Amino acid sequence: MFVAPLMALVLAASTAVAQDSVVGTWSSGSQHVIPGPGFANPAKKSFTYPNTTGVGYSFSDDGWYELARYRFTSNASEPNCIIGTVIWAHGHYELLGNGSMVLTPVGDGYQQVQAPCAGTSNFIQNYNFTELMKTWQIFQDPQFGPKLHLFQFDGSPVAPLFQVSPTPNMLPKQVLRNVTPPVVTITSDGLITTQTGTTRRRKRSAAPEMQRPIAAVAGLVAVAMFSAML
Ligand SMILES: *[C@@H]1O[C@H](CO)[C@@H](O)[C@H](O)[C@H]1NC(C)=O
Ligand SMILES: *[C@@H]1O[C@H](CO)[C@@H](O)[C@H](O)[C@H]1NC(C)=O
Ligand SMILES: *[C@@H]1O[C@H](CO)[C@@H](O)[C@H](O)[C@H]1NC(C)=O
Ligand SMILES: *[C@@H]1O[C@H](CO)[C@@H](O)[C@H](O)[C@H]1NC(C)=O
Repeated sequence: MFVAPLMALVLAASTAVAQDSVVGTWSSGSQHVIPGPGFANPAKKSFTYPNTTGVGYSFSDDGWYELARYRFTSNASEPNCIIGTVIWAHGHYELLGNGSMVLTPVGDGYQQVQAPCAGTSNFIQNYNFTELMKTWQIFQDPQFGPKLHLFQFDGSPVAPLFQVSPTPNMLPKQVLRNVTPPVVTITSDGLITTQTGTTRRRKRSAAPEMQRPIAAVAGLVAVAMFSAML
């Protein structure tokens, strides 16, 4: 006779949503990729490369978000050509009534692309890509606590994001640098687009070289296969 209440308890535990708010700082994997001053310095258009690859998002309670992403993917047609990308952006997020989330950058974002097999191989460019998360959900992970799942416009998941802090780690909520065109507004998971190619030829910036973290080597195959998840 205790079965029913017990079942209810078990179900409640396994589906428990710790919170229904995205406010806080979230980071994938080993949680080293965290938005804020430890990752990006927009005034210098520079990055502090994290020790491991991953993605991080922060959300404030007044509608700001910040994105930090660091990853290496292999070129599908040339598996030895490892493409590194680092992205920083921030702006406004909106939770839509239909369960989607829109992240609209304010235009001061930038990314570094390191693609040794493609011409000028290492450069930094403006990045201003609006993201639609079709759905999002927060689960309670028995080991790691709140875990945010974001599903991108095409339904593909962002790697699960663990809550690093219930408060948002982020740079000041304002435009942080002046941007002169061109600005990349399309992206194929950080891979070089036509637009990027144009930028590359026009602008030969000597960006600091990214070293692929050791952890990324082991994860590389998975990263290549599930690159959209990062
Ligand atoms: C990376 O790891 C080293 C050694 O553990 C540490 O000193 C450094 O601060 C770390 N860098 C970042 C960006 O976390
Ligand atoms: C919610 O609405 C937005 C804006 O109209 C749309 O782009 C998105 O696909 C919708 N989401 C779902 C889950 O239908
Ligand atoms: C960045 O994108 C947003 C949304 O599309 C747009 O309002 C803004 O003007 C863009 N900024 C730049 C510098 O391209
Ligand atoms: C991928 O490899 C192909 C064939 O070598 C090359 O044409 C292309 O530029 C590479 N793409 C990137 C992003 O490095």
